[in-house]
Amino acid sequence: MTALIDYRRDGRVALIGLSRPPVNALGQALRQALAEAFEQALADPQVQALVIHGQGRAFSAGADINEFGTPAAFETPGLASLLERLAQSPKPVIAAISGVALGGGLETALACGYRLCTQGATLGLPETRIGLLPGAGGTQRLPRLIGAQAALDMIISGEPVTATKALELGLVDRLVDNADTLLEAAVDFASALLETPAPAQRPWPHANPAQGLPADFFSAYATRHARRWHGQLAPQLALEAVRAACEGSLAEGLAKEQVLFAQLESSPQSAALRYQFFAQREALKVPGIDKHTARRTVAGVAVIGAGTMGGGIAMNFANAGIPVTLLELKGEALDRGLAHVRQQYDSAVKRGKLSPRQLDERMALITGTLEYADIAQADLVIEAVFESLAIKQNVFRTLDEVCKPGAILATNTSTLDVDLIAAVTRRPQDVIGLHFFSPANIMRLLEVVRGRETSAQVLATTLDLARRIDKIAVVSGVCFGFIGNRMLEPYAREAHRLVLEGATPAQVDGVLTDLGLAMGVLSMYDLAGIDVGYRVRESRRDAIAHDPSYCKLADELYAQGHHGQKTGRGFYRYNGRERIEDYEVVACAEVLANELGIARRTVSNEEIHDRCLFMLINEGVQLLDEGIAQRGGDIDLVWINGYGFPAWLGGPLYYAEQLGLQRVLAGIEHYREQLGDYGQMWFQPAPLLQRLVAGQHTHIQRL
Ligand code: 3HC
Ligand code: NAI
Repeated sequence: MTALIDYRRDGRVALIGLSRPPVNALGQALRQALAEAFEQALADPQVQALVIHGQGRAFSAGADINEFGTPAAFETPGLASLLERLAQSPKPVIAAISGVALGGGLETALACGYRLCTQGATLGLPETRIGLLPGAGGTQRLPRLIGAQAALDMIISGEPVTATKALELGLVDRLVDNADTLLEAAVDFASALLETPAPAQRPWPHANPAQGLPADFFSAYATRHARRWHGQLAPQLALEAVRAACEGSLAEGLAKEQVLFAQLESSPQSAALRYQFFAQREALKVPGIDKHTARRTVAGVAVIGAGTMGGGIAMNFANAGIPVTLLELKGEALDRGLAHVRQQYDSAVKRGKLSPRQLDERMALITGTLEYADIAQADLVIEAVFESLAIKQNVFRTLDEVCKPGAILATNTSTLDVDLIAAVTRRPQDVIGLHFFSPANIMRLLEVVRGRETSAQVLATTLDLARRIDKIAVVSGVCFGFIGNRMLEPYAREAHRLVLEGATPAQVDGVLTDLGLAMGVLSMYDLAGIDVGYRVRESRRDAIAHDPSYCKLADELYAQGHHGQKTGRGFYRYNGRERIEDYEVVACAEVLANELGIARRTVSNEEIHDRCLFMLINEGVQLLDEGIAQRGGDIDLVWINGYGFPAWLGGPLYYAEQLGLQRVLAGIEHYREQLGDYGQMWFQPAPLLQRLVAGQHTHIQRL
């Protein structure tokens, strides 16, 4: 037997342990080893029942994602046919699950006649998150086990369930306290089965999985989710596969599942989402830190400023069970901030996402104060006061005075120079940027800004902490706007300028949402506040003064007091949250264009796409060249998780590779010529992009 399987016999029971660290991914070699172990157990007359379990931290995390897109994914034994063989076993097979059983891992368990799991286990079918569907029987066996509705919810959301929920759904037969006693319990369970004796295969509890559901269940489900699924293939095909489970035999459904799975496996969308999966893990590999880097303990946190960001930031820690002190200047602001936090939790309770008890527990973890003395013992302090260098430097001077030695001092600035903030303290090595995105309790992105003097310990500690509060951390160097907002600047600049040239805000935004962005950039400015954008421009007028047209329309909206959604008018008019095109904005653009000598014309959708996207990509390439971002994947993560770039396009740089770097460069050069002075001013190709194209590289990498 290979080292990939730990095969043992305990009396009449064969114990087959998957043993491929770290997560028992079912690559070809492990599939082969499992097939051999299974045949060995069947052939052994002493063996009357089999237990499959996972050694280490997982039962199995499913198919080996590295194999997709390569022939290895389907090399024999294929997972689907291996599991079909398992499902036909004449001897009872029991899955003993500890850790995670995900994707093909859970499908393996579903092919077993019986399932036990530990209290701490999680079970799920996350395939749609990487643009696939469960392709080893999951779309057929799960509905037959727990019914079509529950199965569809699990498959479409990709959300894993807890052991308790799994028991409630009928997904597992029994819970076991912990991993230490799991095998013993499984052997006892097997012995009891053999005594009964129980059949190797049991009848499905939901032989007709759609029983009791309305006739239009599947079409209504698709209609309900149409907006969220916009442009995404995987959920649509997953729905089709589950529908097949309700309309035909198991054999027919399995055949259909194979066809749909193969279609997704070879799709560009899945390739992009798999790239994202690995990018997220790569992002945590940062030069200068590793598992040996010492970490500091973070048991108590303080947040300075209880405004829009401060309250949301505090909630992250309370949600993770970490006590947090919220400091404000004045009692009223503090009360407002705390009330807002409570409101958010209240609404989560109303939506059934939180129990009233959890609300109380979380609120009890958040303490308000007006006194710096109360945060002296905090292990981490996050400043979220007004975006002004002078104000922030003052706060940091005070923090330097009051905070205990070794405390990590973080700023949530979105654009300011972290090094200038660190410089006012006597401990710049302890200062770091932690740039949360709004709403901070919901958005998963966290840009971790490594200052010139930030120590490896501080960086490593904050990256670990990001994981504890369930954030996707990406490390950025110091520059205006870090990775995300720096790239936003040229992208938004083009969107603004195109409206002066003749596009409408709705046309610009429409091109972007058609591509799959969650929101057009002008709608986003309306949401964030036209005044917020204005203040950012004010802080860097020197850098933009040479272009009199620069965001001119937004400046005018600001002057008119049209600050976006909060005032009911911005690039659009608002009726509540309903967005309405505003012809006065178009008229205003006409007047401004006239004053600036910009000829109005019909702007094509292609031009909008190319100018906004190519400028976004160009800036990303430049960031890579400057070393602000370590790798293209980091940039893509930022834009997907912070700015609503569609994950199934992989992120702006991955998208650029699919378009072809040559095309991107040619587009930039084209507009440099076509747009006259404006083109010369802004359409400057990043030198790295030029070098990549000259060297006929197809991937964006540092050269
Ligand atoms: N295939 C290949 N590698 C995998 C993997 C998989 N299914 N799951 C995890 N890994 C790798 C990670 O890339 C990482 O590698 P690295 O150390 O070299 O960076 C390592 O295992 C550890 O993973 P994490 O850092 O993510 O560890 P965590 O403890 O945070 O999380 C996990 C573990 C919950 C298992 C998480 O890795 C995960 O969600 N994995 C993916 C699960 C998944 O999507 N399964 C479905 C696969 S598709 C499928 O099964 C198709 C089938 O239906 C036919
Ligand atoms: P805000 O104006 O809503 O809140 C700031 C809060 O800080 C106010 O409640 C104010 O009373 C308090 N404050 C000001 N000076 C203080 C001091 N010296 N001590 C204690 N409290 C003080 O601002 P918002 O939007 O929460 O922004 C805060 C920071 O977060 C800024 O640096 C901003 O750039 C950044 N940021 C904002 C995002 C957003 O979308 N709003 C997104 C990401 C970062």
